[in-house]
Amino acid sequence: MSSETETQPDVAQDGHHGERRDTLTVTDNRTGKQYDVEIDDGTVRSIDFRQIKVSDDDFGLMTYDPAYLNTASCRSAITFLDGEAGVLEYRGYPIEQLAENSSYLEVAYLLVHGDLPTQAELDEWTHQVTIHTFVHENVKSFMQGFRHDAHPMGMLLGSVGALSTFYPDANEIDDPENRYIQTIRLIAKMPTLAAFAFRHSNGQPYVYPDNDLWYPGNFLNMLYKMTELKYEPDPRLERALDILFILHADHEQNCSTSAVRQVGSSRVDPYSAVAAGVGALYGPLHGGANEAVLRMLHRIERKENIPDFVAGVKEGKERLMGFGHRVYKNYDPRARIIKQAADDVFEVTGKNPLLDIALELERIALEDDYFIERKLYPNVDFYSGLIYEALGMPVSMFPVMFAIPRTSGWIAQWLEMVQDKEQKIARPRQIYTGQRGREYVPVGQRG
Ligand code: SDX
Repeated sequence: MSSETETQPDVAQDGHHGERRDTLTVTDNRTGKQYDVEIDDGTVRSIDFRQIKVSDDDFGLMTYDPAYLNTASCRSAITFLDGEAGVLEYRGYPIEQLAENSSYLEVAYLLVHGDLPTQAELDEWTHQVTIHTFVHENVKSFMQGFRHDAHPMGMLLGSVGALSTFYPDANEIDDPENRYIQTIRLIAKMPTLAAFAFRHSNGQPYVYPDNDLWYPGNFLNMLYKMTELKYEPDPRLERALDILFILHADHEQNCSTSAVRQVGSSRVDPYSAVAAGVGALYGPLHGGANEAVLRMLHRIERKENIPDFVAGVKEGKERLMGFGHRVYKNYDPRARIIKQAADDVFEVTGKNPLLDIALELERIALEDDYFIERKLYPNVDFYSGLIYEALGMPVSMFPVMFAIPRTSGWIAQWLEMVQDKEQKIARPRQIYTGQRGREYVPVGQRG
């Protein structure tokens, strides 16, 4: 809490405190009153400013922060980012170590539980996910209802939300066992829903999960199995996909995770909250950026067109998709790892010709003052699409590839939010700019 101070704070003549206090002393020049506001973990509580009033019937001060540029919405122990240094850690483990040594399912366990699993815990977790990969048969007829050219992300959005109707007990969010089985189901079923959307787009029969296969391999199986009795994924592609899934698993309070937390704060079931996350990730400024990057590279088409494109960016006519980040003002550590994974995939699939354009675009941008001044570096979306395209996916599947692994981050953040005693239904205020007290005029008398 904080308090209103009538007297001057104990600031010595040389401007130094008598004793150092973690508080902010605020003077309201409208009234001359001073207020001490506590500083906690590098933040001040917005509600502490409500006491600053000019009269007893004054509502008090609010803080105004469109797009939450400088607002912490929660306390979280899941993911740590240092944007200036380009550091990303899941539960304290550097992303570089996890990408090199771990697997996506092990990382999903880490995000949800907070620690790396023992072998027995990992085996049980993997078993639970594996036996929950099937979806209700009605989901297939639901999927058939989409147009042949429906965007897979729209199909995923609809089908994830629809899962809440198959598990009506999922809204018992105070029951730990219930929360756990919904966690398992969401992580397990996202690849199945994604693959069904892909097969629907291609007019191909849906492929059921093969529980003998590893998580990424099973996803490739559901995407690409045709008439062979058993699909055998290339282990190099499986490993590359697993690394991509690790890199995309969580990223603290990004737009889609904030959407999951906000919607989840109404105590709705986790399927509906995750569907909100899918909707937010769909946007071209967020998870849809990997799709926008490929469309941009195809439009550039040749290296010699890059200078004109970059000029268009500087004139504000274009946006360099896959560059820039709200937090990273340095190279996104995930982009660096993805760039390495791309080489492994291209060994199998052959190099994506757009890679040379992407590398040249990055080289030019990193030397250009416009981008340097704005601290615009490649982010996670700049290179990932090149891999997905090399794997034979249409660009419309790229945001879906982001949503699959991000599900473990979304559900980990949802679990943390529903158990956080500080949290309640999220309901921001506003600055009202409209008119007041207008008299209703019958339609016949309106000008
Ligand atoms: C993801 O939040 C997360 O963690 C997200 C994510 C995750 O894992 O969840 O990391 C995943 O969404 C990565 C970002 C993918 N999006 C893109 O690649 C789209 C292109 N990037 C931008 O639109 C932009 O950089 C954002 C949206 C990522 C960040 O936007 P900000 O922080 O709101 O920055 P801004 O739009 O205010 O830009 C600041 C300046 C502006 O210039 P001025 O108007 O001040 O002159 O930088 C310019 C912008 O015009 N700018 C760009 C640019 N990004 C910012 N100019 C050209 N190309 C760009 N990509």
